[in-house]
Amino acid sequence: MALVALGVTGGIGAYKAVEVARGLQKHGHDVAAIMTRSARRFVGEITFEAITRRRVITSQWRPGANADIEHISLASDIALLLVAPATAGAIGRFAGGIADDFLSALYLATRAPVLMAPAMNTNMLEHPAVRANLATLGARGVQFVEPGAGYLACGWIGKGRLAEPDEIVEAAQRVLQPSGSLLGRLIVVAAGPTYEDIDDVRYIGNRSSGKMGYAVAAEAVRRGARVILVSGPSSLTPPSGAELIRVRSAAQMHTAVLRHALDADMVVMAAAVADYTPERRTAGKIEKADAPLELALVRTPDILADLGRARGGGSAPVLIGFAAESGDPAERGRQKLLRKGADLMIANDISAEGLGFDSDLNAATLISRDGTEAFPAGLKTALAAVILDRAEALLAPQTT
Ligand code: PMT
Repeated sequence: MALVALGVTGGIGAYKAVEVARGLQKHGHDVAAIMTRSARRFVGEITFEAITRRRVITSQWRPGANADIEHISLASDIALLLVAPATAGAIGRFAGGIADDFLSALYLATRAPVLMAPAMNTNMLEHPAVRANLATLGARGVQFVEPGAGYLACGWIGKGRLAEPDEIVEAAQRVLQPSGSLLGRLIVVAAGPTYEDIDDVRYIGNRSSGKMGYAVAAEAVRRGARVILVSGPSSLTPPSGAELIRVRSAAQMHTAVLRHALDADMVVMAAAVADYTPERRTAGKIEKADAPLELALVRTPDILADLGRARGGGSAPVLIGFAAESGDPAERGRQKLLRKGADLMIANDISAEGLGFDSDLNAATLISRDGTEAFPAGLKTALAAVILDRAEALLAPQTT
């Protein structure tokens, strides 16, 4: 059983934090609720007091609470600081190191892991200031439970809704009691398309949605791995617990994957990386003319092949590639496996209707140096589990 500090900040999702407290208690944890002034405009502190059976902390100025400087003593007692909902204000204060209330002082004082569940209007979430603050916190090791998309309290439809309480509790459990067959492993997953800019308006892209790669990332998180998800442009909500790095072009994906691959136990290249990019990007917008437009395209770096070369004759990281093929996927996949120096190639047959790109379903042949295995049409989530089952067998034993 652990002591969890549950910070509740002022968003409409504050009422869901009551369920989060309950969920943590069901796992045997003790919850100390901290409410900001604006959180108390949405939910009464008595509710949290009754649920947690503890005094709710609402201020650092309460007489009697400073005999042992409460935010400092709580900071060393907690196993996790969980903030749900986390408003743009709280995220900004944490990122800026501004300790102007109990919760933000606790954030600076604690060395416990920090998990935040952001919730706000879509435009606020996408504002560069908020994005920069989230990136700052992510770089410091703060983990996030991604907000969901749907109908928001403000009447908008979009991303920004507080994740469901079960999801938040599950994410907290993963921090508090990590477990699973991939515990202690670092897995880099590249997912989605890349966009190669022609000018400021147009780009060359492809139909990859990111579903396959995101399914692998979610399964790896479930198995206890630390997961770095390098994603090309995708509208999907990243699996909570994965560290997200957004990229746009093949060159950016190359840089991001290679930066982390050397420390990784496994790299899964589910992304549909562009093979060609415009030789130069035109500033502004290319004006149309009657004459045909000729674009010079040059090859992009091959990330998987570079990884294969970089590990030389070694066996780490385990390298998994995908091949989207329309004619004899197994044979073409085998050729790619050998050419790129991968350990496992997942060859999808994209000629079948409703499978592969932008679908929840896939059919594939898993090709290793020892042979092939068919995965008949099924959910990408199920294929992700089969891939990781096979890939786990290729991992070198962990040294303690
Ligand atoms: O995203 P979804 O909508 O779920 O669709 C999933 C998918 C069909 C995109 C996915 O399962 C898939 O097949 N991805 C690979 C697409 C492909 O055709 O790759 P490729 O044959 O061009 O490349 C083979 C392998 O090399 C891939 O692992 C690819 O990520 C990698 N590669 C390719 C080019 C490049 N410059 N660098 C690379 O690392």
